[in-house]
Amino acid sequence: GLVCSQTPAAGSISTWRLSWSRRNLFFTGLILLFYLVFYGFLAALFTFTMWVMLQTLSNDIPKYRDRISSPGLMISPKPDTALEFYFNKSDANSYAQYVSTLKKFLESYDDSKQSENINCTPGKVFDQNDVADKKACRFNLSELGQCSGKEDKTFGYSKGTPCVLVKMNRIIGLKPEGEPYIQCTSKEQGMVEINYFPPGGSIDLMYFPYYGKSLHAHYLQPLVAVQLAINSNSTNEEIAIECKILGSPNLKNEDDRDKFLGRIAFKVQMTE
Ligand SMILES: *[C@@H]1O[C@H](CO)[C@@H](O)[C@H](O)[C@H]1NC(C)=O
Ligand SMILES: *[C@@H]1O[C@H](CO)[C@@H](O)[C@H](O)[C@H]1NC(C)=O
Ligand SMILES: *[C@@H]1O[C@H](CO)[C@@H](O)[C@H](O)[C@H]1NC(C)=O
Repeated sequence: GLVCSQTPAAGSISTWRLSWSRRNLFFTGLILLFYLVFYGFLAALFTFTMWVMLQTLSNDIPKYRDRISSPGLMISPKPDTALEFYFNKSDANSYAQYVSTLKKFLESYDDSKQSENINCTPGKVFDQNDVADKKACRFNLSELGQCSGKEDKTFGYSKGTPCVLVKMNRIIGLKPEGEPYIQCTSKEQGMVEINYFPPGGSIDLMYFPYYGKSLHAHYLQPLVAVQLAINSNSTNEEIAIECKILGSPNLKNEDDRDKFLGRIAFKVQMTE
């Protein structure tokens, strides 16, 4: 009497319950199996489609490119907040970040990193379509004059003549026409005098075209250094500068929708 406490009636109910839940389990399993197969199939289809598409892509050249686009301009150092440089020329800490960014940026332009680069013919586009081993042209840091960081280790920031480097974004296959150069202007008259390195802010055609990361490993993009000699009567003033690429008919510089296309605007404010 102590071992079995179940009545026969209770036993049959629990047997019925058991078979009902077994059935339930069976259908749940079937549904799960269906979804498993269904999603498995979708995943397989997706993977296969992706694989087929990747087979048709080349590592070197973008496939879907109806025309070669026009490059944007960028500057270095690039301030964290917007494009505004604030510094105190008497306080090295206030511009230390700019100086270290410039140093880091120019590391790849050091002579020691350019041992495999060749001296190209200035003023001429350097076509290497038929050559498997694409050469990179040397960009001599001395071209950046007082902004090279060689003589003036603070890139002019300690003297109130800060340097900003302007570069064109790399675009594979782009061949600028004419004689491209960077020109910067300030809205405010008489606040700042602008000097360029190389002289005239010119960008040599020999650095084009660029063949892409994998084919053109040692490629260095040409730089233009812009040195802003801020007039002493303009310290504490916010000075707005705009730089544009000019002299090349196929490089755009005034697109309403893209304010970085061939141009860049930034502000400088110096205290002492
Ligand atoms: C600039 O730095 C100098 C030296 O640290 C300091 O005396 C001066 O007050 C600073 N100027 C401003 C506007 O913070
Ligand atoms: C870079 O230019 C300077 C001055 O024109 C020259 O003395 C130096 O040898 C050049 N460096 C290289 C690696 O050609
Ligand atoms: C600042 O000084 C320069 C000469 O050093 C002068 O040409 C310019 O007009 C002055 N600017 C202002 C806003 O007074």
